[in-house]
This record gives sequence, C-alpha cells and structure tokens, in this order.
Amino acid sequence: MRLMQHKREAFWFYRYLSNFYDKLVNPLFWTEPMREKALGIVDWSNGESLKVIDVGSGTGFTTEGIVKRVPAKNVICLDQSPQQMERAMVKPALVDCRFRLGDAENLPFDDDTFDRYVSAGSIEYWPDPQRAIEEAFRVIKPGGQALLIGPLEPKNPVSRFIANTWMLFPPENDYHLYFHQAGFTDIDWVFVRPHWQENERYAIAMVGKKNRPGPSPNARPRRSTRSLVEAEPEGGWLGRNLLLTGRLILGSTAGFLFIPMALMAHVTAPLRGVEGEYQPLNREQKAVLYGLGVVTAFFIGRAILRRRW
Ligand SMILES: C[S@@+](CC[C@H](N)C(=O)[O-])C[C@H]1O[C@@H](n2cnc3c(N)ncnc32)[C@H](O)[C@@H]1O
Repeated sequence: MRLMQHKREAFWFYRYLSNFYDKLVNPLFWTEPMREKALGIVDWSNGESLKVIDVGSGTGFTTEGIVKRVPAKNVICLDQSPQQMERAMVKPALVDCRFRLGDAENLPFDDDTFDRYVSAGSIEYWPDPQRAIEEAFRVIKPGGQALLIGPLEPKNPVSRFIANTWMLFPPENDYHLYFHQAGFTDIDWVFVRPHWQENERYAIAMVGKKNRPGPSPNARPRRSTRSLVEAEPEGGWLGRNLLLTGRLILGSTAGFLFIPMALMAHVTAPLRGVEGEYQPLNREQKAVLYGLGVVTAFFIGRAILRRRW
C-alpha cells in the first residue's frame, strides 16, 4: 500500500493540509468545470426529493456542486477529518447540509438509505477501495446511483512514480472491476482533467446503478462500526508511530512535489498547445509561483557566478 493510503496517515495529513487545501490544492487539481462534467453523468431529475451522501466530502467543494441540484437539507457529508469538515460547515451554501464524521469503508448508515452516493477525490486514501465501493452499494436504495471520482495512474513515468509512492492512483481497469465486483449495473463514465493537463485520462468519474435491495452480492462481512480512525494493526506503539511519522513526511513530500509541477504546467499550457477551459491562478497560487521563480533565479544566478569566478 502507498504511503498515504492508510486511515491514520490520511487523518494527520489533512490536519495540516486543510489549512491551505481550498486555496492552493483544490483549484489546481479539481476545478469547477471538472466537477460539473463529473456530476453531469448522474441522473438528478426530481432533485427536490433525492437524498444524497457525499463521502470524503472534505471542505465541501463537490458538495457545493451537489446542492445546486438537490436541496442542501437532503445532503449528508461524511468525512473522517474534523478539520476538513469544519471548513465545509461554515460555507454559506452548505449550512443546511448534515455532517457526520465516519469512515468510507464502514458507513454508519442502514442499507438502502440514500438515492445518490457521491465521492470525489477520496479513493486515493482508502486502504480497501473495494470495501468502500461495496459500502456505496449497500447504503443506496434500489434504483439509486453511485458516482465515484478518482485519479488515474499518470502516463508520465516521473509523475507515475511520485503518484504511486504517495497514494492510490488506480489504473482505469480497476475502477471497472470495483464497480462490477460490487454489483453495479448501467455503468457509465467520463474522463476529466484540469485545463493545463494534456492527458485526457487524468481522472475518471464513474457512475453505476443498484438494481436490488440490501448489501452488495459479493460483500465481505462488515467490521464493527465503533472506530472512526481505526489504527491498522501494524506492530507496537513506538513502531506504529515511527511508521506514521515516516510515511507522513515522505508522503507529504511526494504530494507537495505535485504543486510546483502543476503550477509550471499551468503556466506553460499555452506554449504546449494544451487546450481547455482556462482557470486563472488565485493570489495564493501566484505567490507560490513567484516564490518558486525567485528561488530558481537565485540558484541559476549563483551557478553562473560560480562558473565565472
Ligand atoms: C482530496 S479530499 C476531497 C474532498 C472533497 N470531496 C472535494 O471535492 O473537495 C479527500 C477527503 O477524503 C477524506 N478521507 C480520506 N479517507 C477517508 C475515509 N476512509 N473515510 C472518510 N473520509 C476519508 C479526507 O479526510 C479528505 O477530506
């Protein structure tokens, strides 16, 4: 499993990442046009009466898209990170939503409860994605739909190495297997990407329908519903915490490498002839970009001066 594909690691990662998630991370990798395209493959007719669960709802960016289609009071946001959830709770569009701390792989809801299940950008952290998708199947009503949005394994070998070190970027075929194995029918999908990314298959949004009541036909027995961030049984206290710290440091480093890479790709997109719905950089992103420019100029200048003298 990848460095950050563990519940405790993801929990601590978001404890600090949530401070700049909305400003620096989300607007680069998960944009409004991507969200709208992904949500567009779900049937939202009779939205007034639909009951929706958003799993791994984080700071509520995808939920803001859902509440354009369904009354906020019908939407439940579930996440394992209180820090992420606190940010979603104060967003004006989401004040009527209901919020619940919980685990995607062990949803604290009865079978056949929701009309729609949505999860965007959370699969990367799930140790057992098949179990989480079985849970999606279980909690929706017969006739309901589940939408899962997640990244695809990058094509570029450097990005693929960093991504696969950091967290789960499943190949496209795995998404199909997860859905078929869970028992979904009428499966459909679209690919989504930010405007600066030339790879059309950057991320996938997949929807499936449940056509029978109760749990997934292939579901394994459920675990206790007690734990929120259940420590996976890996050695004693010291070993476990050393492992957690090591994974957090290495995983965060790998993750943060994507920010300058994406900013550079953003700036160079027109030169590379990459087309898409342009999303301007915000103040914080510009600040990081200028900072990177200054550091790069400093090192280049120093190298030139050293050669001369
Ligand atoms: C990249 S954010 C996506 C947030 C949101 N869906 C959005 O569109 O901005 C991933 C979220 O998944 C949550 N998460 C990770 N593993 C989880 C799990 N096992 N159960 C519930 N939430 C989880 C994290 O806490 C984080 O808030």
